Amino acid sequence: MNAPQSYIDTHFERFREELFTLLRIPSVSTASEHKGDVRRAAEFLRERFAEAGLEHITIYETPGHPIVYGDWLHAGADKPTVLVYGHYDVQPAEPLELWETPPFEPTVRGGDVYARGASDDKGQAYTHVKAIEAWLKTQGSIPVNVKIILEGEEEIGSPNLVPFLESHTDLLACDMVLISDTSMFAPEVPSITYGLRGLAYMQVEVQGANRDLHSGIYGGAVGNPINALAEIIARLKTADGKVAIPGFYDDVKELTPDERAEYAKLPFDEAAYKAALGLADVTGEAGYSTLERASARPTLDVNGIWGGYQGEGAKTVLPAKAGAKISMRLVPDQDPHTIEELFIRHVESLAPEGVTVKVHGHHGGPPAITRLDFPGMKAAAQAFSDVYGKEPLFTREGGSIPIVGAFKRVLGVDSILMGFGLNSDAIHAPNEKFSLKDYHRGIKTSAAFFARLAQQPAG
Ligand code: BES
Ligand code: MN
Ligand code: MN
Repeated sequence: MNAPQSYIDTHFERFREELFTLLRIPSVSTASEHKGDVRRAAEFLRERFAEAGLEHITIYETPGHPIVYGDWLHAGADKPTVLVYGHYDVQPAEPLELWETPPFEPTVRGGDVYARGASDDKGQAYTHVKAIEAWLKTQGSIPVNVKIILEGEEEIGSPNLVPFLESHTDLLACDMVLISDTSMFAPEVPSITYGLRGLAYMQVEVQGANRDLHSGIYGGAVGNPINALAEIIARLKTADGKVAIPGFYDDVKELTPDERAEYAKLPFDEAAYKAALGLADVTGEAGYSTLERASARPTLDVNGIWGGYQGEGAKTVLPAKAGAKISMRLVPDQDPHTIEELFIRHVESLAPEGVTVKVHGHHGGPPAITRLDFPGMKAAAQAFSDVYGKEPLFTREGGSIPIVGAFKRVLGVDSILMGFGLNSDAIHAPNEKFSLKDYHRGIKTSAAFFARLAQQPAG
């Protein structure tokens, strides 16, 4: 084992404690009462960047949460430049009563650390900070040029990072982006993710009368916003699981027979998948497998719905308002803005008489597919083999990382998605966890990646 790798073993206990300190900061980007906590997380990272030996360390202010940057650029002009990206913001921890231990008190059970952000993305992003430290402390150098950017707004759609990319193309110029913010295919099955879905997120609000009404006095004569909303939602999908919005599939790239054959080869256990979710059956678009439906096909889901009486017992009320949050996962080459417009036009056309319907969009992001045939991908696969002792699988995933599309569009570079999480990590949910063994191996894989990349012929 080389010096950086043994350094990682020797110092792992401290690496774990540092991660726990970061996990104790409730850096919830969507909640304004946590604005100071998000900044504290940025400042914590700035200090760790400095200890690791990074240079040009800067906290860039934005209209929202800050961006933390550092680099080490002395490997030589003949060596590639890697831009490491990650996010230190987290999703809200609610509902708190469903956590076995408090979300911002990291607790180890069964080899996993439980805390909000453990897997998404503090634990995964921090692997690279420690890999950089391991190189600089043992060798005084890294075999390739490294830039690292950690943002505090991924969970709200990276609204300020996109303009930051556009105005800092020289600062961020690189040959490839390295990101650990995805999942392995299964425990002990390392994987490189080469496709992510995009997102268009909508809100529908339905208004009936100017106030709640007695459903006996007015029912039958006055439009009911909940009934109207239910009718609209029921018309967004067909019985065979397709999205019923006209034009929705126009830009969808069909899977090729080769891609479908690759999907079929993945070691997917559908029975175990259903059992883990407590389901008797899975469901979705007809004609596609479960894995295809969850990663390579677009879909539409209601994420929240409200209106009317929800308290104890019965209340005979005809509500004045109802609403829903509805998101669509997108695949290449669907464009979130086009889909947003198609959704608005369709929902407005479905509005029943007697109510008014308003639709607006929230944040979103484009889908992404990255190239497989460049030196960075090869180096990433070798690094996984070095540390996990097996070749990684190449998979597509259903989640979204909005900035990946912008890296391609603005900087012209592909992203290598080297995930160390698991789908069972409960990200965004109560009892989020991250395997400490994968945290350890993640640091080693990142360190090995820098070495393997330096050995690759340029191209
Ligand atoms: N890290 C996730 C995305 C992810 C998770 C990709 C697992 C692949 C596997 C990221 O932090 C995330 O949650 N993204 C959001 C989008 C964002 C705009 C809120 C998502 O996918 O819902
Ligand atoms: Mn994430
Ligand atoms: Mn997330």
